[in-house]
Amino acid sequence: MTSVGTGRPDVAVVGGGVIGLSVAWRCAQRGMSVTVYDPRPGSGASSVAAGMLAPVSEAYFGEPDLTALMVASAGLWPGFAAELAEHGDIGYRTDGTLVVALTADDLAAASRLWRYQASLGLPVTELSSGEMREAEPVLHPRIRRGARVEDHQADPRRLVAVLRTAAEAAGARVDPSPVASLSDVDAGTVVVAAGTGTARLTGLPVRPVKGQLLRLRAPDGAPGFRHVIRGYADGRRVYLVPRRDGEVVVGATEEERTDDLATAGAVLELLRAATDLVPELSEYELAEVCVGHRPGTPDNGPIVGRWRDGVVVAGGHYRHGILLAPVTADAVAELVATGQTPAVVAPFAPSRFSAAPKEEGES
Ligand code: GLY
Repeated sequence: MTSVGTGRPDVAVVGGGVIGLSVAWRCAQRGMSVTVYDPRPGSGASSVAAGMLAPVSEAYFGEPDLTALMVASAGLWPGFAAELAEHGDIGYRTDGTLVVALTADDLAAASRLWRYQASLGLPVTELSSGEMREAEPVLHPRIRRGARVEDHQADPRRLVAVLRTAAEAAGARVDPSPVASLSDVDAGTVVVAAGTGTARLTGLPVRPVKGQLLRLRAPDGAPGFRHVIRGYADGRRVYLVPRRDGEVVVGATEEERTDDLATAGAVLELLRAATDLVPELSEYELAEVCVGHRPGTPDNGPIVGRWRDGVVVAGGHYRHGILLAPVTADAVAELVATGQTPAVVAPFAPSRFSAAPKEEGES
């Protein structure tokens, strides 16, 4: 074996994005020696993510286990954010989210989802066009109707930096050695938190799902709105995430492609939908066009659990990596420390996919 790094830690985390660093932090807090392997921590999906913490507005049909996991993690977020605030600003905001519908067809699609979300007991408050504009005067007067949901946000780029500081303060070490194969890593437990790289390291079915998004910058400091705005605009879906530092994230495409080309068509579609909802955005600076790849799985759920002796997987978080970081980190730290898989992540075991070796006794 050609071991990367030096010494044999209790835990080696392969991948230094939001999931890997959260796992490292929680494990180090329990007194384990931890090394995170990543040549460029936070450079994957975490650097592109919008950072919406959206258990309600991203509760979609046919994903009840995933929705339950998202709700559980949302419940952990206030404590997670408060602990991290001791180490730096993660851009955590609890101003809430407005989901808006521009046309009658948009409203029909949105209302169907609101009814489903409400049927799960999730808090969705419908608002008239006037009430929407009272909450956010920047919204276009043509907007038909909307809903207010208690979905929040954090800034993933700040989060990566602060998580690294917190993890290192708890004793974790970050090693820039690349990991080509799990046999290169010598540790009590290896945690694979490598985003789309999880497939290469484990054979599990994690595929890259391309997302393009834009970063705009308000001309006068803070953006003219404080809620996250998610919209249906003439059949196009878009979200607008305002940060206190003047940034507005406009996202995102969802493309079954692996290339990292930023396309004119995506910029056009995103900006058309964004300015249909909030016209003043056309005056903002176009600061960045970003392309990233979400780590998607066949059932849209993450892969969290024991994969084989000494190897745990925490990957495939698809659209929800930032939201699911606290619940994933707590579950993995518990699993590594005790050998027991917490019930909240049980539906997301690697063994549900055929590439994973079955646990003893499983058929
Ligand atoms: N959760 C937002 C996105 O994946 O674009």
